[in-house]
Amino acid sequence: MRAQLLRALLIPTVVLAAACGGSRRDADATVDVPAGRLAPLPPAAAVDGADFATSERCAPCHGAAGGVIRDGAGRDVSPVTAYATSMMNWSARDPYWLAVWSGERAAHAGGVAVVDDLCTRCHAPMGARELARGGAAIDFTTVTSDPGAAGQLAREGVGCTTCHQIAAAGLGTPATYDGLFATTSARQLAGPHARPFPMPMQRHVGYTPVEGAHVTQSELCASCHTVITRPLDAAGQPIGPEVNEQTTYLEWRASGLARAGVTCQACHAPTTDVDGAPIVAKLSPMPPWLEPRQPIGRHTFLGANAYMLALLADNQAWTGSAVAPATLRAGVDAAIAMGRSAATLAIADAAVVGGRVRAAIRVTNLTGHKLPTGYPGRRMWLHIRALDAAGAVVFESGGVDGAGHLVDAAGARLDPGDAVLPHRDRVGGAAEVALWEAVQVGRTGAPTHALLEAWGMGKDDRLLPRGWDPTAPDAARTIPIGVADDADFVAGSDVVHLDAAAPGAVRLEVELAFQSVPPAALEAAAALRTAAAASFAAMTARRPPTPIVLAQAQVAL
Ligand code: HEC
Ligand code: HEC
Ligand code: HEC
Ligand code: HEC
Ligand code: HEC
Repeated sequence: MRAQLLRALLIPTVVLAAACGGSRRDADATVDVPAGRLAPLPPAAAVDGADFATSERCAPCHGAAGGVIRDGAGRDVSPVTAYATSMMNWSARDPYWLAVWSGERAAHAGGVAVVDDLCTRCHAPMGARELARGGAAIDFTTVTSDPGAAGQLAREGVGCTTCHQIAAAGLGTPATYDGLFATTSARQLAGPHARPFPMPMQRHVGYTPVEGAHVTQSELCASCHTVITRPLDAAGQPIGPEVNEQTTYLEWRASGLARAGVTCQACHAPTTDVDGAPIVAKLSPMPPWLEPRQPIGRHTFLGANAYMLALLADNQAWTGSAVAPATLRAGVDAAIAMGRSAATLAIADAAVVGGRVRAAIRVTNLTGHKLPTGYPGRRMWLHIRALDAAGAVVFESGGVDGAGHLVDAAGARLDPGDAVLPHRDRVGGAAEVALWEAVQVGRTGAPTHALLEAWGMGKDDRLLPRGWDPTAPDAARTIPIGVADDADFVAGSDVVHLDAAAPGAVRLEVELAFQSVPPAALEAAAALRTAAAASFAAMTARRPPTPIVLAQAQVAL
């Protein structure tokens, strides 16, 4: 009902904009629909759909309440508990996604159905597919305010019954990129174990557990972690080239880790406990005679997006989720710890020569993809400080102000939203920052945070994974942009050469800083005049995007 109302509001806008030859910006201005903020999302409730179910239905056996999926030290390592703080569990309650999606709807007001299909495929797949089964289409209202089954399934994001129903057919091929995976029919949930005992699940949730080797392969992740978009006009029609927005799976496939058989799951769903011991456990408290299984994957699925988990903790009541703020705060710590396993930093040839500090600073990527990977805008840089004998800072590059902006020695901002910072092999002054990122640009070459306005990448100097091979299938989509003059930017690492005036320096300290959501991205989201953007801006105003530290190194000079 409300969906129809919203459409009715949107359609005349487009006609109007088209009639006056209006640009997308004009349409945007007219669509400036709901004033105020987005109402809090409806409280979570257990749902059994035709194809999908919410995790509450799995918790009695595969959550803490089941009491059996524990490691050798008795710690709960059950899927339901571990998955609570993965961003995939929040992919549709994510206020950043809601803000950007609402902005895309406003900018492509004549093609809202195209935008809704695209933006929910990976972020709200259960709600979208459950509705599609009955011939209906998902929209913004379903996701943000429907208290019924479709809304609940949508807000569960990438749920248990998403991954475990993905069909093996076509995974890892272009036909299933962009969230176009097939699901198995007949309510079968695939897992890695042979001959699962089916009766309890059939009785309690109406699903049948089956063995499916594809669950343990990187291809399970390929469909949603390969995002290839095209710029759209206001009516939702493609008007430009394919853009490799996210290529995490392709980065991995071209890496030495893929050739060595180190899967996404090996790092993101480890089969060992926090002490490194293999996990052996029963999968369910019933029937009581079940034998323990091994391996068991801890469903942590963490990246280093600690900022968004912290923002969710701050606004837990708004999200409607039953996950407690304290659990989310523990997730923040776990995401920071995950970040700390992403890279190493090493300082070589450090010396002071004629009042200048010199060093070669090597950053090595330990992940299975580019670092950073994923959503464009994630950025990483060197925060370099030289100190004198009294501990005073005599040189600094890569410092931030209280809002998370990169600043020079005088506190002036170095990273306004309309600038693309150059790739740096050398750092010679406080205004030069060695920073790695992918920057989307629009038709004119200016940076854009609107996914469906992007015509390409203006720069992509993110660290390559180890053993990156440009001849691997679709590796061309992962080729770095803007590093041609940097001979030591190689697969797996990059060296930054420091040579800067630092009178009296006796010590060099370097941090590898990371921001999942940089200030320019927040500013772009805040500029979208939608209710979801206003809500997001209010949340982020109370929590500036302070960088986290992935690695540290220091030497006496
Ligand atoms: C093919 C799958 C796919 C599609 C389609 C897709 N996304 Fe995403 N999106 C992802 C993945 C995967 C990530 C997380 C990557 C990461 O963590 O770096 C993500 C992350 C994001 C984020 C960052 C969230 C955060 O908390 O930092 C935003 C915003 C976002 N997407 C918006 C959109 C919008 C708007 C659309 C529709 C135009 C869309 N996405 C379509 C897969 C998809
Ligand atoms: C992002 C995809 C994904 C999601 C979402 C997901 N799983 Fe899994 N699940 C996996 C993978 C991968 C494995 C195999 C791990 C291994 O053993 O190597 C697995 C294994 C399992 C197993 C068998 C035990 C094991 O680890 O081998 C159970 C039971 C299970 N998942 C239940 C759940 C439940 C319940 C949820 C929701 C809270 C869930 N899964 C969400 C990917 C997923
Ligand atoms: C009443 C208890 C119960 C509930 C509820 C339950 N399961 Fe299971 N699940 C089991 C049992 C029993 C097995 C088989 C264990 C074995 O054979 O070792 C199992 C196995 C699995 C497997 C592993 C299959 C394999 O071959 O590796 C997955 C995946 C799984 N369940 C997912 C889910 C999901 C998702 C839900 C919620 C929609 C759920 N289960 C709800 C009891 C349950
Ligand atoms: C149905 C689509 C889908 C599938 C399948 C999927 N992902 Fe994701 N993944 C997403 C989306 C969407 C996000 C972004 C959520 C957000 O930030 O709002 C994401 C985010 C992530 C993150 C970032 C978490 C963080 O805290 O920053 C990791 C890590 C991840 N996925 C790993 C995996 C792995 C490993 C697999 C395969 C076992 C997988 N994903 C399968 C859609 C998917
Ligand atoms: C060797 C370990 C390793 C492997 C293999 C690996 N990752 Fe990661 N991944 C990490 C680490 C460590 C991070 C945290 C750093 C970061 O967020 O960039 C991470 C981060 C991520 C993120 C979040 C990026 C962000 O910050 O927004 C996504 C999404 C992701 N991985 C998906 C995948 C997928 C999909 C695969 C397989 C195709 C995979 N990873 C393989 C270690 C690994």
